[in-house]
Amino acid sequence: MNVNNVSLEVVCGNPSQFPDTQFNEIAFAGKSNVGKSSLINALINRKALARTSSQPGKTQTINFYNVENKLYFVDLPGYGFAKVSKNLREKWGKFIESYLTKREQLKQVVLLVDIRHEPNENDKMMYDWICHYQNNVLVVATKADKIKRSQIQKQVALIRKALQMDPNHVIIPFSAETKQGKEEIWEILDKWVLE
Ligand code: GTP
Ligand code: MG
Repeated sequence: MNVNNVSLEVVCGNPSQFPDTQFNEIAFAGKSNVGKSSLINALINRKALARTSSQPGKTQTINFYNVENKLYFVDLPGYGFAKVSKNLREKWGKFIESYLTKREQLKQVVLLVDIRHEPNENDKMMYDWICHYQNNVLVVATKADKIKRSQIQKQVALIRKALQMDPNHVIIPFSAETKQGKEEIWEILDKWVLE
């Protein structure tokens, strides 16, 4: 998609604030600090519309970005962030869970994992969960600029194996620094938009 117009439309702290629209939604899920907000910025050609931070736990609300009046990109808070209290962690968990499981407009999820690390239990749970709810899934392996080019395919294979990914599901290495992978990701999202 040729993206010129994007606005942050709704910031939600609880499910009653989810927008009442019929646009399809593509959600970006993954652990804290993996690069969800950075990927959204890259896809919409903006430097900092989605707020990012080197400190995990930056995104604490569910943020809806209106993309060209065609769809919403939905930036989710990250999971597995150890420094917030258990209480808050559970509250976020329930909030994200209610979005992922109950939202009819949601049919597609981009799951982000760090290309440098083997996915953990939370990542695996999230992948299984997305599949269980029959959403389309694309796995994006972020921070590809942080490893040698020669290591990329090896890491991709490791992630595939750890998540026990369906062979039909796609995984794309991406870097918010170099924008490697951006066009491939858009190709998939464009197909989703037409579905
Ligand atoms: P939360 O909102 O806390 O869940 O994090 P997030 O997943 O939205 O991560 P965010 O986009 O805020 O990025 C976290 C940190 O990683 C920031 O310092 C980013 O600059 C950095 N980062 C994100 N993507 C990349 C990348 O592809 N390469 C490199 N080198 N750094 C990245
Ligand atoms: Mg974020």
